[in-house]
Amino acid sequence: MILLDGKATAATIRTELKARVDALRQDHGRAPGLAVILVGDDPASQVYVRMKEKGCAEAGIVSFSHRLDAAVAQGELEALIDRLNADPAVDGILLQLPLPKGLHSQACLERIAPDKDVDGFHPENMGRLALGLPGYRPCTPAGVIELLRRHGVTTAGKRAVVLGRSNIVGKPMALMLLEYGALGDATTTVVHSRTPLDDQRACCREADIVIAAVGRPLHVKADWIKDGAVVVDVGIHRTEAGLVGDCDFEAMKDKCAAISPVPGGVGPMTIAQLLTNTVAACAAHLGA
Ligand code: GUN
Repeated sequence: MILLDGKATAATIRTELKARVDALRQDHGRAPGLAVILVGDDPASQVYVRMKEKGCAEAGIVSFSHRLDAAVAQGELEALIDRLNADPAVDGILLQLPLPKGLHSQACLERIAPDKDVDGFHPENMGRLALGLPGYRPCTPAGVIELLRRHGVTTAGKRAVVLGRSNIVGKPMALMLLEYGALGDATTTVVHSRTPLDDQRACCREADIVIAAVGRPLHVKADWIKDGAVVVDVGIHRTEAGLVGDCDFEAMKDKCAAISPVPGGVGPMTIAQLLTNTVAACAAHLGA
């Protein structure tokens, strides 16, 4: 079994990015900049945002932190986004989701200039993904693809099942697996919360590649997995038994050709992809 080690892979990516960032600074006199907006005090979001800012520091990216009260007005949040859109030191804008109740996340995401949309959530970038055109790709599915690529896993011609249809993970993940190329070209099935459990299991049993993003602890059982399958677990849940994913890692790991752990799998890759997108945005803004 190959462990899809996202922690080590992300560290490698940060080192590679640091060299790129140093070169940009040498040649153009400034480092890439990422504005990070956190609204409210959701503890999980606070942890994620802190990890994103730490990742920036390690890659030599400047981060601009904007912490807003949960009671902030929609107009005030949009005005901040407008200022960041106009700020030449800011290459990327990250609005941490979910937003507190009363704020319209879709309106905010659409307010972010597509050339600074390093999360890839603007309809223009999502549309470009759907059309197979270049653009910023959502960080979690792009991180999954990069994790597979760096472990020599290809998807072309294989049967892939994505569990979950969220705009952040499942939907863009399926679109990426449908793109042309060795890390696409998969026969792709999406199952979701309205797919009967028996059908979810039946689809998974046929799959060469299973990508779990359902948001339910230990949802995917060992007997759903074909011998020699590749499993990528996007979930992370704090339980009494510690952090677990959407998949029963311990029960299935020995039958998998490759599997990602939780923690230390997809999570660090999501952040590495955010940093990668930010450096790419900077290079585009500098004409480098
Ligand atoms: N919340 C959960 N995942 C993500 C993500 O990838 N980006 C942002 N901005 N918020 C999230």
